[in-house]
Amino acid sequence: MRSINIGILGLGTVGCGTAELLQRNAELISRRVGADIRIAAVVDRDLERPRPVSFPPESMTTDARRVIADPDIDIIVEVIGGVHPAREFIIEALQQGKNVVTANKELIAKHGSEILDVAGRYGRDFLFEASVGGGIPIIGPLKSSLIANRIEKILGIVNGTTNYILTSMSSVGKDFADVLREAQAMGYAEADPTSDVDGYDSAYKLAILSAIAFNTRIRIEDIYCEGIRGISSKDIAYAAELGYVIKLLAVARPFDGQVEARVHPAMLPVDHPLASVNDVFNAVWLRGDGVGDLMFYGRGAGSLPTGSAIIGDVVESARNIINGASGRISCTCFDKLNIRPISDISLKYYLRLQVADKPGVLASLAGVLGDHTVSISSVVQKSGGDMAELVIITHEVEEKNVQAAIGVLREMNYVSEVSSLIRLEEE
Ligand SMILES: NC(=O)c1ccc[n+]([C@@H]2O[C@H](COP(=O)([O-])OP(=O)(O)OC[C@H]3O[C@@H](n4cnc5c(N)ncnc54)[C@H](OP(=O)(O)O)[C@@H]3O)[C@@H](O)[C@H]2O)c1
Repeated sequence: MRSINIGILGLGTVGCGTAELLQRNAELISRRVGADIRIAAVVDRDLERPRPVSFPPESMTTDARRVIADPDIDIIVEVIGGVHPAREFIIEALQQGKNVVTANKELIAKHGSEILDVAGRYGRDFLFEASVGGGIPIIGPLKSSLIANRIEKILGIVNGTTNYILTSMSSVGKDFADVLREAQAMGYAEADPTSDVDGYDSAYKLAILSAIAFNTRIRIEDIYCEGIRGISSKDIAYAAELGYVIKLLAVARPFDGQVEARVHPAMLPVDHPLASVNDVFNAVWLRGDGVGDLMFYGRGAGSLPTGSAIIGDVVESARNIINGASGRISCTCFDKLNIRPISDISLKYYLRLQVADKPGVLASLAGVLGDHTVSISSVVQKSGGDMAELVIITHEVEEKNVQAAIGVLREMNYVSEVSSLIRLEEE
């Protein structure tokens, strides 16, 4: 049986998960592929650290470039993370005639087109299923099984940390900061949670999904990105009262020759399939013009789930090598569509304000909103002493009008605070 030799760069969570699953199911995988997938080399900065898997000492090295240059290695698995030196390692590996598999969403979102160009020039595979949704297959289906469809909309819960935090806030009524501390203690959030809670991790994944779905290069800087730090337990309670849940959503759809691509907390109706995606689970919901509505659900991170996606790509790449068909799936970003600015997007909005509890205030506030073509769909008012808390749901309106109205409201002496603005994601 033919051997396909892989070199794993990075023996952290994903590198070890990949090795563990490959070792556990080695025989089954070889029978399915018709080739022996062999971990020929592993690279890490620190070879002494205790790990859940062991490797023959002669296969371990700290020198990534030696593995990349090794003519016996067929496939490089890049799981060191970050942009540098991962970008350089991957480009060198492709130039050395190796196929490359990675889970590195940040790198693909920032340099994917450059790397895919190199892969195309050298006729190699550059595969990255694990970069979005961890163990959930979504890139393969978008590139192959769903290729006949125009994708009309993508909604994703693609960050487990923020989904865990929002789920905990909903179930125990605690505030963001307390739940974040607990999530960090349980290992569900990083010591520096910025990339997750401020939405960047979701934006990287959305850039990848929308580039594939809409055949266009997406610059990460063009994606509107807002995290969950501003969500309070009060907003979550009001959302529940009104029949919604709050999720950090990655949203993309083609619109009027442009692409809408945005990451922000959103109120989803409780009966939407994504509303029941809880804790660290991820899901991507999409609508294709032929297939209709689909949802992909599962573990968006973790050692073995992400390892599962990596091995899927390794096997695909191994089959291509065996059949002399590497480089078969090239970059499909042949269009140049602009990203629609968030200010031009029309949605319904939830507004929470603290106002003076006096006659005429509501009418005056409605007047300001009306002046900006923001019409009110419903109002909840809760009084407490001299002040009242107002929750307003608007009809659909362009974001720039809502923002302009809020700017005026903030200057009015009967409004002490505009506490929240949350977008509604409804059909
Ligand atoms: N963790 C997940 O569940 C998950 C899910 C999907 C995708 N991903 C992506 O998968 C990639 C890896 O994530 P991870 O969680 O496995 O990271 P990790 O646990 O930090 O593992 C990375 C490993 O690579 C080592 N390393 C870093 N730079 C190196 C270099 N230049 N040379 C040799 N070794 C180097 C690190 O060593 P040090 O510890 O010394 O830095 C660490 O042992 C990232 O791109 C991540 O975004 C992760």
